Amino acid sequence: MKVLGISAGTKDGSNDSLVKEALMGALETGAEIEFIRLFDLDIKHCTGCIACVMSLMSGRGGKCVLKDDFEWLLDKMLDADGIILSSPIFEKGAAGITHNICDRFGPRTDRAHIVISTKIAEETGGALPDQRLLKDKVISFMGIGGSDWSTRVECDHAMIAMSPMWTIVENIVFQWSKTIIVEDEKIAKANALGRNLAEAAKDIENAKYIGAPGVCPHCHSHEFYLSPNSTHAICCLCGIEGDVAVEDGKTVFKFGEDGFGKAHNVLSGKFLHADDIKHNEGRLIEVKKSEDYKNRVRKYRDFIQATKPN
Ligand SMILES: Cc1cc2nc3c(=O)[nH]c(=O)nc-3n(C[C@H](O)[C@H](O)[C@H](O)COP(=O)(O)O)c2cc1C
Repeated sequence: MKVLGISAGTKDGSNDSLVKEALMGALETGAEIEFIRLFDLDIKHCTGCIACVMSLMSGRGGKCVLKDDFEWLLDKMLDADGIILSSPIFEKGAAGITHNICDRFGPRTDRAHIVISTKIAEETGGALPDQRLLKDKVISFMGIGGSDWSTRVECDHAMIAMSPMWTIVENIVFQWSKTIIVEDEKIAKANALGRNLAEAAKDIENAKYIGAPGVCPHCHSHEFYLSPNSTHAICCLCGIEGDVAVEDGKTVFKFGEDGFGKAHNVLSGKFLHADDIKHNEGRLIEVKKSEDYKNRVRKYRDFIQATKPN
């Protein structure tokens, strides 16, 4: 059983050290371990070209056209049974380099897209997408910050697990943690996170989230998009729509069966999303053929050119 630790922090800093502490826990639990630093790699931004999705949906395997170390990283991640990812908190959320990984996962690793494109490839005799993307996996996150500005980081981290539908075991935030390397209580938490993740990786099918309950009973998120005029709320992470209320002094989020089926981290919700995207992409292809569309593109292109550094 393999556990991969990934740090998005500075060399030998808090994130490197806490990932290594978690890996020590995983090692003691019988895991084979490996450690990767994101800043050792060349990871480019997703440019939004959607070549990966076009490749997936035309039975060509779904590879990204960018030439960098992302394929190498993805291969390592898909090879592991469990992943520990730790990111410094930047501007209340995960660091930009962590967002990059999330974007590069994007539609290309989405479980529904992989199921659909596997079928297309089988029917057309094309290239199968990486079948390891259909395998369940466990993942735990740590977000380490120098203050208590940290409200977006859990959600940013959990988004990484959403595309491939990996099971999150823990999603911990360490606030006021500039000196975390000498804070034994937090170090023990990281070690336990590694142990728990490795235990979960031994029995992935039955792996469950064991972290803080959060507010969303489905995905445990604390983040909601609230309506100013009603109790209507949307979970920022799983996308379930429902209502918030206060019961016995506690915030509760309630939704019906219908809401659960549309959640963005279950296959039924992902298929609905894939259908919507297919419909809209088809519409765009049609609209792009029109003179009106071409004229409008020309209008904006000719209006002003982007200034660039010399
Ligand atoms: C650009 C930048 C933004 C930051 N924003 C936050 C923040 O919003 N909240 C927070 O708690 N810490 C913030 N920090 C502090 C880092 O999270 C902290 O230094 C980090 O845990 C260091 O990790 P490392 O030692 O692994 O590199 C910020 C640091 C930088 C450089």
